[in-house]
Amino acid sequence: QSANIGVVGLAVMGSNLARNLASREGNTVAVFNRSRSKTDELVADHPEAGFVPAFSYEEFAATLAKPRTAIIMVKAGGPTDAVIDSLVEVFEAGDIIVDGGNALFTDTIRREKAVRETGINFVGAGISGGEEGALLGPSIMPGGSDESWVTLGPILKSIAAVAEGEPCVTHVGHDGAGHFVKMVHNGIEYADMQLIAEAYDLIRRGTGKTPAEIADVFAEWNTGELESYLIEITAEVLRQIDAETGKPLVDVILDQAGAKGTGAWTVQTALSLGVPVSGIAEATFARSLSSHPEQRAVSRDLPGAEEELTVDDVDAFIEDVRLALYASKIVAYSQGFDEIRAGAAEYDWTIDLGAVSKIWRAGCIIRAQFLNRIADAYDAEPGLPVLLTAPYFVEALGRAQGAWRRIVSTAAGAGIPAPAFSSSLSYYDGLRAERLPAALVQGQRDFFGAHTYKRIDKEGTFHTLWSGDRTEIEAEDTH
Ligand code: 6PG
Repeated sequence: QSANIGVVGLAVMGSNLARNLASREGNTVAVFNRSRSKTDELVADHPEAGFVPAFSYEEFAATLAKPRTAIIMVKAGGPTDAVIDSLVEVFEAGDIIVDGGNALFTDTIRREKAVRETGINFVGAGISGGEEGALLGPSIMPGGSDESWVTLGPILKSIAAVAEGEPCVTHVGHDGAGHFVKMVHNGIEYADMQLIAEAYDLIRRGTGKTPAEIADVFAEWNTGELESYLIEITAEVLRQIDAETGKPLVDVILDQAGAKGTGAWTVQTALSLGVPVSGIAEATFARSLSSHPEQRAVSRDLPGAEEELTVDDVDAFIEDVRLALYASKIVAYSQGFDEIRAGAAEYDWTIDLGAVSKIWRAGCIIRAQFLNRIADAYDAEPGLPVLLTAPYFVEALGRAQGAWRRIVSTAAGAGIPAPAFSSSLSYYDGLRAERLPAALVQGQRDFFGAHTYKRIDKEGTFHTLWSGDRTEIEAEDTH
């Protein structure tokens, strides 16, 4: 029996993806796992899938029709390299190896280059949507060659989530482009989650509402412009009661947020590209801050705000928080798309930003109504330099900015941390500024390091003789 697609790595994500593939018309799925028991279990539990089990790489290769196509679903890093090496041994030129894990895009670039030498295609594909998405329809962000897309495109389209009739998969760009875009997706996910958490914290501290009552607020928000998967699940988490203590679950979960690294990659990459993804960075740092109990313990008695947060008009306050969240969310997405734009320029990828926003409309963790507006913005102006300057967002930000400013100053006044809200607002005001104090920074740099500066009134590069007579000379540009 010949399979048209294979899956290597049958942990939850891998087996769900294999089941998803098998459930679609026309697919016969070969499955292989390093330890045999997982394969046996999957095949026994899902006779309806008609899986073709393989127990060695040779057998796996033999069951696949040409061009052989295999999706690897194992841990990023060493385990992925090991599987790739094994597949390269048994595959032939023209075959396709897909890495569906959360690989670092530079690893994907390296792997693609190495595998290409053998004539085999290597595709790094970001897959979002967690376990449920893998089973029912994820959002898929494949990179790799055009040749591989010919075979892979229809297969991935068959299993992807569908948004308004369109499958949530597109050939993002060559080599590491898919994993790059998935990385930024996760960075935006971090920012979105942190913003929601800050909104929850402000409402709780400001109004004394219980988590269950705040769940109702989020459920209500989910019927409007904030409609999204993350808002929806937030309501569910807040409503959950711990069986053991009878308390809201959110009150018994340790307040130290974990991270597997994709948020940090997004920030590290943005730093090297010189892209200010401040909302994503603050969200990532907020997780780090939360995870240092020893530092938090010694800091607990630091002097705080003189006055507690008091809210007179609860409904108006909640509406302010909603608008602050919406505005900050626009900033986070704008920054994320800016990073994709910069990454594409740096790595020579042609990435259609509108297409990326469309494949995030369903299946993935950041799926939201809002992504249609981003798609519209790029449809109207594909080269839009700053997403938040699109007319729809300008209107939304104009409507929200009063509330946004009130919430950031209220939080600061009451000593409530709101790093993502406030950094987003600062970014917005920084972009808007007619003049920035960067001029002074340039002056300081020139003073201590002769780093030179440019002038607003004439061409050229200049240096002031700070330790001499302080006249200005023309200088070599040293940046
Ligand atoms: C997705 C998620 C998925 C995973 C993250 C969680 O798109 O399906 O982003 O990739 O849940 O890796 O990341 P952290 O563990 O870093 O929060």
